[in-house]
Amino acid sequence: MPEIPVSPPGASLEDLAPAKINLCLHVTGRRADGYHLLDSLVVFADSDAADRIAVAPSDTDRFCVNGPEASGLESDNSAGNLVTTARDWLRAQSDTASPVALTLDKNLPVASGIGGGSADAGATLRLLARLWSAEAAIGADRSEAICNALGADIAMCVHGGPLRVRGIGERLDPVAGLPALPALLVNPRVAVATPSAFAALQDRDNTPVPAMPDGGFADIGALADWLSAGTRNDLASPARQLVPAIDDVLGALRSSGALMARMSGSGATCFGLFTTRKQAVDAAETMAGARPDWWIRATILNADTPVRNRAEQGE
Ligand code: C5P
Repeated sequence: MPEIPVSPPGASLEDLAPAKINLCLHVTGRRADGYHLLDSLVVFADSDAADRIAVAPSDTDRFCVNGPEASGLESDNSAGNLVTTARDWLRAQSDTASPVALTLDKNLPVASGIGGGSADAGATLRLLARLWSAEAAIGADRSEAICNALGADIAMCVHGGPLRVRGIGERLDPVAGLPALPALLVNPRVAVATPSAFAALQDRDNTPVPAMPDGGFADIGALADWLSAGTRNDLASPARQLVPAIDDVLGALRSSGALMARMSGSGATCFGLFTTRKQAVDAAETMAGARPDWWIRATILNADTPVRNRAEQGE
């Protein structure tokens, strides 16, 4: 997760709220309260696929949204409210919670399986914890409280990746050995309601994610082979029933030369992995020409991770 810039008192702090991608998502059971137990490998996008949050001291609490996807929030109150709900939750844990003006620059489509609203809430918590000196309230030992109070995807977005995520989203274990991943994110502009995808699941007691090879992966091809052979997104099948356009997106990613293509989260956004950044960018351009109605972004997943050979990434 990028560092928050150091700013003088009173100035605005900013942070990225990057897209969250589930490289795999296994549903392994269900809790008594109906929430599903998951086993997932989660990575985050670079600044090409991210919302942005700014916070500044203010005379009274303010929240404003702008950016190309701002209109999506008008039709999805739950996503918009996550920022202010996160603010109010952290304030309730803090002694020095002065009023703030929060600005959300919305670039990620809502209800799209890449954690947009959760990413916004996560970035809001990081920024306000810094401003209010309330870091202890969002520490690693607070993941369960954050998930229960605000949403199952939010603790992982506070933490940043790469992560193995279990429980309903509160068990977070950093993952070593994953390379930076040139990727293409594609959404067919059909929203999927997460509860609908979970409700349509046929099988809820599935196998967990297998152990990763000792020493990690030699290159992206090795990771893509391992993901394809032994891991899944168990929500893909129910989401594809709800939104058949997901199949079109997966087909387009495979035709564009992706090493592998899969849906993220509860959909409908899918990702394709590429050997180089240039391949991902070229594929994005070609696909955008053919499907101007789709949301398409080339990015690097897990970009903070040192890359063994930057030249291989087309950098
Ligand atoms: O926690 P969050 O608000 O993100 O979850 C939205 C809905 O998705 C839940 O009400 C539940 O129906 C479903 N869900 C689930 N198991 C999870 C995460 C979400 O069943 N681990």
